[in-house]
Amino acid sequence: MRATEALKELGMQRSLTSDTDAEAVARRAPHVRGCADIGEDDISEDGIDHDDSRAAAGAGFRRLTLTNFRSYAFADVRFDGRPATFIGANGAGKTNLLEALSMFGPGRGLRSARLDDLARAEGDGRFAVAARFADADGDDGRALGVGIDRTPDGGAARACRLDGATARGPIAFADIVRFSWLTPAQDGLFTAAAGERRRFLDRIAQTQDAGHSRAAADYEAAARQRQRLLDERRGDEAWLSALETRMAEAGVALAAGRRDAATTLASFDVSGLADGAFPAAVIAIEGELEAALDGAVAADVEDAFVAELKARRRRDADAGRATYGPHRSDLIVSHRAKGTLARLCSTGEQKALLIGLVLANACALARRAGAAPLVLLFDEIAAHLDPNRRAALFDIVDGLGLQCFMTGTDESLFASWGRRAQAFRVEGGAVHEI
Ligand SMILES: Nc1ncnc2c1ncn2[C@@H]1O[C@H](COP(=O)(O)OP(=O)(O)O)[C@@H](O)[C@H]1O
Ligand SMILES: [Mg+2]
Repeated sequence: MRATEALKELGMQRSLTSDTDAEAVARRAPHVRGCADIGEDDISEDGIDHDDSRAAAGAGFRRLTLTNFRSYAFADVRFDGRPATFIGANGAGKTNLLEALSMFGPGRGLRSARLDDLARAEGDGRFAVAARFADADGDDGRALGVGIDRTPDGGAARACRLDGATARGPIAFADIVRFSWLTPAQDGLFTAAAGERRRFLDRIAQTQDAGHSRAAADYEAAARQRQRLLDERRGDEAWLSALETRMAEAGVALAAGRRDAATTLASFDVSGLADGAFPAAVIAIEGELEAALDGAVAADVEDAFVAELKARRRRDADAGRATYGPHRSDLIVSHRAKGTLARLCSTGEQKALLIGLVLANACALARRAGAAPLVLLFDEIAAHLDPNRRAALFDIVDGLGLQCFMTGTDESLFASWGRRAQAFRVEGGAVHEI
């Protein structure tokens, strides 16, 4: 089946364009922040930029301090608001820095790592990541901290701190900062199992609505408990019904969040930016609940889902898993200009599409008032791009005024950015501004 037909059959083909938005971003001068000549002396002792004349530096991390995190015994890095590049050999510790930043987001960070793996192997089993995050007004910013707490039974728990006080969890940071990242692990996203794409879409949705991960966690927890009852062949009707109702509420919220995320992605045409360096995508979600929400209100979809779950109890017990629901959904992406499914595109085209999706989301969020600022973490992206696309990526990111961190093995990858980026060399377990 041809790609376009496949998409049509799903009944979800969308190709909204919004050239005015793209032009507006493109018009913004790449030098909007005028940070080209900020020196070390301009940063005060606490790492916060207090100079109001440069308040345009924008919201973002101003300082990152690592203690016994991954390969770092200790590191203290100051950022001035320009896009930052981490340059160093393989294994130098570049990705570890991005991962440390991602600790302030929901979930397990950019490597989905276990807490225990984050603590430096040669350390005492604990770690600390602390940061200063300034808001767009140039205010002093917030003090963020993530570490590991040892429970009496030898277990580990993530400990979060905000402005010197214990925070309930990373959700406390959701009003301050959001993250969007691209890593080499996502290179095969379009040919990987559906779960990878689902998680990618859920992370995009999470940047748009901090409640999305709560819906995902609630759904998973209820589904797991229901399956345990079914596996044990315990016909506890009241308990099963309660769990299925919870699954339906959370599951429909999850599906609705994904639909919103897909609509937002489709609302920004990245091919209108930087001479079309990154292709626009057509996005569709293949999923029972997501499709049902096309023609029905959420309450009705919930009721139908509850009925479906009830009818499938025996089948799900036999299968050992729920055979219906949003944990099976898939994100279907195609290259809009070519009309080809992303999974059939070349490796380079897939990478460009993926970057395009993240940029579309960033563009959409950048103009959303009142939302926590988005920080972009791009791990080893530059090496995949030809020089023109590298320059275009920088112009787009810089024009958006979002803080961005990028890694690369060679300084030359970022040559076209010049002093518009703050460059750091990572080597020997240390990070130095170049
Ligand atoms: N918990 C840990 N303790 C000590 N070293 C670690 C830990 N986790 C990873 N490392 C080391 O960190 C290095 C990888 O760092 P990474 O940031 O991925 O490098 P790169 O610069 O290539 O991105 C490896 O040498 C790895 O052994
Ligand atoms: Mg790396």
